[in-house]
Amino acid sequence: MTTGRDSLPMKTAQQMAMEGDEPPSKYNINNYTTYTKFGSLETSPPFAPVPIIDIGCLLSSAKQDDQQTELAKLRSALTTWGCFQAVNHGLQVSYLDNVRQVIKQFFELPLEEKRKYFRETGSVEGYGNDMIYSENQVQDWCDRLFLRILPENQRKMRFWPEIPSNLRETIDEFTKKMKSLSVVIFEAMAKSLELEENCFSKQFTEERDVLQGRFILYPPCATPDQVFGLKAHSDRSGITLLLQDPGVEGLQVLNDGKWYMVPVIHDAIFVNLGDQMQIMSNGIFKSPVHRVVTNREKARISVAMFTEPEADKEIGPVDGLVDEKRPRVYKAVKDYAAFNHECFQKGVVALDAVKL
Ligand code: OGA
Ligand code: NI
Repeated sequence: MTTGRDSLPMKTAQQMAMEGDEPPSKYNINNYTTYTKFGSLETSPPFAPVPIIDIGCLLSSAKQDDQQTELAKLRSALTTWGCFQAVNHGLQVSYLDNVRQVIKQFFELPLEEKRKYFRETGSVEGYGNDMIYSENQVQDWCDRLFLRILPENQRKMRFWPEIPSNLRETIDEFTKKMKSLSVVIFEAMAKSLELEENCFSKQFTEERDVLQGRFILYPPCATPDQVFGLKAHSDRSGITLLLQDPGVEGLQVLNDGKWYMVPVIHDAIFVNLGDQMQIMSNGIFKSPVHRVVTNREKARISVAMFTEPEADKEIGPVDGLVDEKRPRVYKAVKDYAAFNHECFQKGVVALDAVKL
């Protein structure tokens, strides 16, 4: 994928923040009209009453009653919000803090060091900014490191930082844990809809797992009311697992036309579905629109792990969710990543374009 317009910025957001620069006009949403579609920027909307799901209760080893209660909660969370906070997931808070710390250490390195991992023009992988597709695209006030982590044989190690020295193994280990957690969630999602337990999970793990990681720094921003950390979008993934910064809020979700701030729960993993799960569930589960706002004083770090089906695998609504009462809503689609990219360039919402 190449584009003539894409470029790396003169300065990273972090450099601008450190040097006290006001965000340049390309970052100011008031210079663009297309971003009001999902409502205006509010830096402190009400908190989202996003459900908290006890993962331990979803396991088959849990007491039957507890499991039924939690499955009903999960189903309700995913049909109304498309997201939830996962607690009691088996990972210690000290472990999660260590993952966050390693990523923080990477962003704290001098620019000369991070520059070694700069992404290339026309490609998302590596360290840098979001790809620039058009002149009408507002820039996000964040720097990110984007890595294709699975399948392992597709890793481009030249983008994987060597410092901090434990970064590679930390990401590797964290990935394994996030994969197992995703499978538990996929199976619970299926059970909550009275479907065969593996009907979702098998679409992700049959041959090769596909997982990307995005490690993001949102530096402090002098004008948080005019700049997005990350503009409104839904994830193209099947499922996204997110570690929020325990010290600062910023993630917002859209529900019923209103924006809500996602509360920070230190030991929770925030889970949201992506478009491909909305398609597979025939529209029963939601892929929520979300965005990130910046903070005047504090930097924020987040870790997002995206799981999606293999590109050459055709996905579509699973059999058990299509019947006379609920006709098929979506076409079958292959390589949703490329499809999503094409739609984005045409200014079309990919989920609308796969509707029948
Ligand atoms: C994303 C995303 C949220 C965050 O990377 O797609 O929505 O809090 N991240 O960084
Ligand atoms: Ni997202």
